[in-house]
Amino acid sequence: MKGVILHGGAGTRLRPLSYSGPKQLIPVANKPVSQYVLEDLVSCGITDVAIILGETFPELVREHYGDGSKFGAKITYIYQGKPLGIAHAVGLCEEFVGDEKFVVYLGDNLLQHGIGPYLKKFQESDADAMVLLKEVEDPRRFGVAQFDEQGKLVKLVEKPREPPSNYALVGVYFLTPVIFDMIKRLKPSWRGEYEITDALQMLIDGGYKVDYAIVDGWWLDTGKKDDILYANALILDERIKRRIKGEVKDSRVEGRVYVEEGARIVSSKVRGPAILGKGCLVENSYIGPYTSIGDGARIINSSVEYSVILGGATIKNVIRLEESLVGKNATIIGEGKKGVMRLHVGDYSVVELG
Ligand code: G1P
Repeated sequence: MKGVILHGGAGTRLRPLSYSGPKQLIPVANKPVSQYVLEDLVSCGITDVAIILGETFPELVREHYGDGSKFGAKITYIYQGKPLGIAHAVGLCEEFVGDEKFVVYLGDNLLQHGIGPYLKKFQESDADAMVLLKEVEDPRRFGVAQFDEQGKLVKLVEKPREPPSNYALVGVYFLTPVIFDMIKRLKPSWRGEYEITDALQMLIDGGYKVDYAIVDGWWLDTGKKDDILYANALILDERIKRRIKGEVKDSRVEGRVYVEEGARIVSSKVRGPAILGKGCLVENSYIGPYTSIGDGARIINSSVEYSVILGGATIKNVIRLEESLVGKNATIIGEGKKGVMRLHVGDYSVVELG
């Protein structure tokens, strides 16, 4: 089976960070979201993977993944350009896919237990497509499923105002090449996109077999700042082990904290779960739970908790930073200003509070 990772889209809900890079490269626990996606595919034995690139800095994606060999994969890049929708992106993969079954995985979706169990179900079945569903509180921002009395999937609607159920479509689609025939007949939706939801509906209407599985464990679509912070917390909570490779001087490091090589913690307190990237500096500061500090970032005379700080950022004299997403090489100078700050700051930005 082959894999397709969608790495395009405009990322409007993640501005300003998505102005300087694709949203799927924003790291959680210091690793790009789409890397978890690729690793999930590879761990299921899917190593022949196409990455669909959008128009937002596609070269950064190529730079990170290269030919895929570092990740145990063989990567083919396909350029989508404008964000014309998931179905449009999938339509570009016809040649890559050939006549095999394949899986499409949105590069900003994270699943607690990965796709392994569902993949097996699909491989063994004769279904023409299989979708993953998850019960959510507010399904209106997703594609939503409707079932008949027997629990058979009868309808899929994209972002309905009145959802027919609470089962949202997860951004993982198990497909067969028949989907390409549907995609060719699609018209753009009200939001001007070619919707995979509509293509799947055509399959249902055409009498094809569209199966589903309900996802066990958490699922996150990391489309907004709060989702990134939450994903970061969940991944740190579940996957980070205590390991201290860097230097700790006159400091306390409590709990599950991963300190990378060359990182320095001086006269500070760090409470896990947290990760401190290569060569970063934490001086005279407090790093609280659920925080990721990127490579080479510097936290000085500050306190940071439940936040994602990207590589090369500087945070200085900030009394309390919480629930924040701070871009690469950004600078935040707090000048000891009292109170809690919650920031969403783009790459290379400078914020001086005085
Ligand atoms: C897309 C799909 C939607 C699905 C969601 C999952 O939404 O169109 O059906 O529920 O991904 O992440 P979008 O991210 O384009 O709003």
